[in-house]
Amino acid sequence: PSVSPFSVRMPVPQVLQPAQSTSSADVYKVVIKPAVAEILPGVQTPVLTYGGQFVGPTIRARTGRPVKIVYGNRLDAPANVHLHGGHVPATSDGHPMDLIQPGEARLYDYPNTQQGATLWYHDHSHGTEAEHVFRGLHGFYLIEDEAERSLRLPSGAYDVPIMLRDVEFEQNGELLFFDDPANRTTILANGAIQPYFPVAARKYRFRLLNASNEHVFQLNLGGREMVKIASDGGLLPAPVPLTELVLASAERAEIVIDFARYPVGSQLVLSNGSTPVLRFDVTRTATDDSRLPGTLRPLPTLPAATVTRDVAMSFDLTGANPIGMVNNQPFDPNRVDFQIKRGSTEIWRVSNADTIGVDHTFHMHLVQFRVLDRNGAAPLPQDAGLKDTVHLPANGSVRVQATFTDYVGRYVYHCHYLEHSSIGMMAQMEIIP
Ligand code: C2O
Ligand code: CU
Repeated sequence: PSVSPFSVRMPVPQVLQPAQSTSSADVYKVVIKPAVAEILPGVQTPVLTYGGQFVGPTIRARTGRPVKIVYGNRLDAPANVHLHGGHVPATSDGHPMDLIQPGEARLYDYPNTQQGATLWYHDHSHGTEAEHVFRGLHGFYLIEDEAERSLRLPSGAYDVPIMLRDVEFEQNGELLFFDDPANRTTILANGAIQPYFPVAARKYRFRLLNASNEHVFQLNLGGREMVKIASDGGLLPAPVPLTELVLASAERAEIVIDFARYPVGSQLVLSNGSTPVLRFDVTRTATDDSRLPGTLRPLPTLPAATVTRDVAMSFDLTGANPIGMVNNQPFDPNRVDFQIKRGSTEIWRVSNADTIGVDHTFHMHLVQFRVLDRNGAAPLPQDAGLKDTVHLPANGSVRVQATFTDYVGRYVYHCHYLEHSSIGMMAQMEIIP
């Protein structure tokens, strides 16, 4: 089955309403369950979902206001939920070994002490995370804060999250997971294939997420301007005008597009390289009292680092099946590689140690880090700001700096090519008092 381009409207994932709001928190309930989604026209594709939706419901949180989410697992396999980019206690982090058994439920506590940011949530059950996320266990978690609100960036209906991800189908319309990820050549925007999205001739804020297991997107608007305002962990110091945006698996970028520059009737195609992904149709005029200020939010100063560590991501290809490794060892939940003193600031030299030309990425739980340099030179535009995930192409290396402020306990860091982490390209750190 195939789809004629720009024949369906891009869905916007529904914002979840709290089941209960108390003086101290908003409480949500989400069921993890199988469902069907119409991704190809007229075809019911079996998927795994949060709350029945192929792109899970969006949680909108505010800095300083805790959120609690009860996830019930109605799959026939263990699952769990990781808040990617979240600064949360270890017990609520969705550690890959900390699972929700079938038929059980689990409460996750999100204090939301961090600044506004585009986060996302996804399955992290060790060994099955790649398949679970591929089949649909992914959604947005957006945090907003007061300082950000006072900037008057486009908001409400003009603040739109867009989850981009690749997919492959079987002949019968089912998702095809067990294949080379390079064959996942169909790209979905909020679950739709090459949709259109009607816009007014005014400014919009788009929160782009690459939720593919393994894909680096090179996004462009056919040479027209997109203004990047935020990366993984929140606002950049100042807007950055771009004509191409590189987004590796799990990375986020927020952009502002000002459609007032284009007459009503214009169509702008967002493409990955030369492949059209999504078309913006300027269908009407509108008033616009939103702003795009010349400065957004300064980055926090970098405290002096007291510890330097090396992290090398690679495969062991000597056996029948490839094994993922960090510093030459596959993931072992009983092993902690780094003990980190709470309050300390560290520099990690992270490298792609494979010699076979494969790509990796690097993601750390718990913290937002800063990229100090890449391959010994200045960071790339996509490395700017507060980051939790970076691309590590063949022969690539980055130095990142992070401060471990408050929570103690065990957290993982890993390649965010989920097929790699699921076969061991993951390790543990433990923050100690
Ligand atoms: Cu988005 Cu450890 O993951
Ligand atoms: Cu990898």
